[in-house]
Amino acid sequence: MLPESLLLLLTSALALAQSRQELPLNIVSSFATQRLPNPASFSLPAEEQLFISVALCSDSSSARFFISNSSNSDSVDDPGPGGTNAFEIILNHGQGNWTGRFANGGILGLQRDASSDFSFDIALFHQSLDLPFFGDSTSNQALIFSRQFQGIENVKPTYPNYTLPAANLSQPLAPSNPPNLTLIMAETSVGLANGPHTGCSLSSRSTAGTIRNETFWAREVDFWRKEFLVTGLNPSTNYTAFVVEDNTKVSGPIYFATKSSGFTCPLVHSLPYCPGVAYAVPLPPPPAGSVVYDNTNLPDAVSQPLISYMANFTTSLTTFACGRDWYSPLVGCNDCQREYRKWLCAISFTRCSEPSPSNPNGFTATPAEPSATGISATARPGPDGAQRVLSALLPQETRDAPRNPFLPPMGSPYMMLQPCLEMCNAVDRACPPFLGFQCPTNNFNAGASYGVGYIDSADGDKDQGLTGAAQDRWGNVWCHMI
Ligand SMILES: *[C@@H]1O[C@H](CO)[C@@H](O)[C@H](O)[C@H]1NC(C)=O
Ligand SMILES: *[C@@H]1O[C@H](CO)[C@@H](O)[C@H](O)[C@H]1NC(C)=O
Ligand SMILES: *[C@@H]1O[C@H](CO)[C@@H](O)[C@H](O)[C@H]1NC(C)=O
Ligand SMILES: *[C@@H]1O[C@H](CO)[C@@H](O)[C@H](O)[C@H]1NC(C)=O
Ligand SMILES: *[C@@H]1O[C@H](CO)[C@@H](O)[C@H](O)[C@H]1NC(C)=O
Ligand SMILES: *[C@@H]1O[C@H](CO)[C@@H](O)[C@H](O)[C@H]1NC(C)=O
Ligand SMILES: *[C@@H]1O[C@H](CO)[C@@H](O)[C@H](O)[C@H]1NC(C)=O
Ligand SMILES: *[C@@H]1O[C@H](CO)[C@@H](O)[C@H](O)[C@H]1NC(C)=O
Repeated sequence: MLPESLLLLLTSALALAQSRQELPLNIVSSFATQRLPNPASFSLPAEEQLFISVALCSDSSSARFFISNSSNSDSVDDPGPGGTNAFEIILNHGQGNWTGRFANGGILGLQRDASSDFSFDIALFHQSLDLPFFGDSTSNQALIFSRQFQGIENVKPTYPNYTLPAANLSQPLAPSNPPNLTLIMAETSVGLANGPHTGCSLSSRSTAGTIRNETFWAREVDFWRKEFLVTGLNPSTNYTAFVVEDNTKVSGPIYFATKSSGFTCPLVHSLPYCPGVAYAVPLPPPPAGSVVYDNTNLPDAVSQPLISYMANFTTSLTTFACGRDWYSPLVGCNDCQREYRKWLCAISFTRCSEPSPSNPNGFTATPAEPSATGISATARPGPDGAQRVLSALLPQETRDAPRNPFLPPMGSPYMMLQPCLEMCNAVDRACPPFLGFQCPTNNFNAGASYGVGYIDSADGDKDQGLTGAAQDRWGNVWCHMI
């Protein structure tokens, strides 16, 4: 009989011999079947989302790849045809891919005819995270936000100390332990998105323009993003952008176009009391030394009335017994104030835009009837015959009264992108009826109009509108929403 210590050694040696090779993340691993058992299998690391790509380097019709995602434990059998929890990666011209959740890791198995030998590559990537967010562009600048990377705890007020956020809201303290977020951008014609979407590959690319400022910004109040202000871009050009996180995780691509060289509205951003404002606004050029407007150079004549409206609204709202008398089981005064702030900021800071270069005639040339709710979403065939949705753009002449009387005259014509009606409906839904908020309202924004039927259908069916969203990853922005 063998001594116990030797037995232990033997079993651990056996276990070692049987453990599967773990595939590394974010690099391509190359193999040749001559140096692999048949069938062969590999262990996959535990990840919330994995993108697996396999590519044969030589022809082999007998190769079949299978994956399972229950566990990467050595005691689990190789995945194969018909196995429970096993999926086949179907090869197409020698290439195949699989995206999925591998909470406990997984196993990749390869089956082939014994007579057939070939080499192949396997690459594992973190699957794409949420997309970066396109704020807006001018002819040579852009505001791009990373995906939301960290939640912010906002204490929900309760009775009897029901305290709402100040009208003159400030940004929360800086995020703890943020990831390293890098913006990588290039003209779409360069083909950045055709190369590997990996941190190592993208980080080696030079980026277009100059990153003039990057800052953490709680655009949505309860989430952090990183905001990039890019300058030095070319007019009327389509750009591709990625955000690389900690050199490995990749978010993107998104696409956007810069405006034409005649576009004169400057960008406004970084306003703590209107954290969602990050777009072009019809204002005169920013004061000397600045390329955009932010909290430090925006005229008080614009910010003060807005904060005063916000303060007066908050005062009216708190005459209601917030947190004690419920007007809805789902929403409270804090939701009402938050939605009203978004709406007020979006209405006060009119948004400038222009038709997308791929659809130069894509706007409604005639204003809606005074009695109409606003511009209805419509589609029209583009130059290539394909249907394109027209944005809720309305030309504004120099003589037209500005929608917000506190905005100084811009002195030249521009196109106004109408707010999405859904933003107004969100206030209507979140606020107690005694405030009398109605959509459209003629209190502050007499004669206001909206983009209607883009997100929700014209009849109000949720997400059943023509586009289902205010903007998309391809650079289309149909109506104004913050
Ligand atoms: C993944 O596979 C699908 C289906 O074969 C293919 O259309 C797609 O282009 C592949 N994606 C990548 C990134 O290789
Ligand atoms: C395995 O993949 C399926 C389908 O993608 C998914 O629903 C399931 O949550 C995954 N299981 C684990 C443990 O990750
Ligand atoms: C009420 O709540 C606010 C904010 O949450 C807090 O600053 C304040 O101290 C509280 N007041 C009392 C009397 O508890
Ligand atoms: C963040 O990533 C960039 C690009 O990969 C790198 O140059 C920089 O040194 C990193 N910064 C930190 C603090 O790790
Ligand atoms: C970047 O923008 C923020 C917000 O406007 C500002 O506080 C900060 O000073 C700017 N940083 C630089 C280097 O300009
Ligand atoms: C809002 O707060 C900032 C600093 O937090 C202050 O500089 C500014 O004057 C305030 N604005 C108004 C209108 O109260
Ligand atoms: C807010 O209320 C005060 C006091 O009633 C009033 O003087 C002020 O004009 C109001 N502000 C706005 C923007 O209506
Ligand atoms: C930018 O390029 C992408 C990819 O070619 C395309 O799908 C998109 O429509 C373009 N966007 C604009 C605004 O031209």
